[in-house]
Amino acid sequence: MRVLSGIQPSGRLHLGNYFGATRQHIALQDADNECYYFVANYHALTSVWAAEELEEITLHVAMVYLSLGLDPKRSVFFAQSDVPQVTELCWVLNCVCPVSMMEKGTSYKDKLAHGLPANMGLLGYPVLQAADIVIYDSDLVPVGADQKQHIEMTRDLAGRFNRAYGADILKLPEPYIVPEVAIVPGIDGQKMSKSYDNTIELIDTPKRTQKRCMRIVTDSTPLEDPKEPARCNVFALLRLLASEEEIEEIAGKYRAGGYGYGDAKKRLAELINERFAPARERYAELEKDTDYVRDVLNEGGRRAREVAEATMERVRSACGVAPKR
Ligand code: TRP
Repeated sequence: MRVLSGIQPSGRLHLGNYFGATRQHIALQDADNECYYFVANYHALTSVWAAEELEEITLHVAMVYLSLGLDPKRSVFFAQSDVPQVTELCWVLNCVCPVSMMEKGTSYKDKLAHGLPANMGLLGYPVLQAADIVIYDSDLVPVGADQKQHIEMTRDLAGRFNRAYGADILKLPEPYIVPEVAIVPGIDGQKMSKSYDNTIELIDTPKRTQKRCMRIVTDSTPLEDPKEPARCNVFALLRLLASEEEIEEIAGKYRAGGYGYGDAKKRLAELINERFAPARERYAELEKDTDYVRDVLNEGGRRAREVAEATMERVRSACGVAPKR
């Protein structure tokens, strides 16, 4: 199965990214699929307008993936901008895309509500994403639940293109969404997201991780009183990190009373620090050898371009813009 996903370099990666997407990306690679993963730096131009910052976060995302087990020998790992065919296909898809479809985008409306400027890039963001996906003939797209509509739009656009040009030129992908981790709460209880400034970062010092955990919002039930685990943000995060046995044990302590939110937060920080210690070590090594990271991306880009160019040759001749020899 050909699996594809993109990671937008709009901020340092956090637990929400990890449980919503990254963990599935690595697992699909380890299950021997043919994986294409890329850092979506053109998408990030809709929210990052500083060259140095964008370069830095792009490298950060690449290093986090490599630290977490992305294997560039098994997966094609690259930067979106190294495949110019994608922006070329984006234009072609723009020409079969109704403006009204984009205006209905929930992610678009959400971003406007958060103050991002309503430019053509933000409106057409899903068209670029569709181009990313169909250009590699992808079968399966593992994403967080917030991206479901974008995959539906991708299928819609690929279908419109195929109907317009009378053939199965573009493959319609399937989404892959793990439902139980649909929403990872941030320290304020809203969905964890860089734009809410409520994240717990993957690559951080144990001390700062603990500080962030201690700031998680809880209710004011006194320490000695029984507490309802299902209503607690700390517990929601513990669920993602602790063993099943320990989750049961902690739920019992919540209900029994005499166990404070502070205790739960400390345990959460320990679990995060343990889980990501090996990745943090590898990340520190990669930071000393960014040339290696760039080489990995360059080689991935070369492989991705080959596939993308083959698709574009089909597309160009289908819609009448292929050079006549
Ligand atoms: N929009 C995705 C996100 O914010 C990132 C992305 C860009 C993507 N292109 C993609 C995801 C293609 C899957 C497939 O998470």
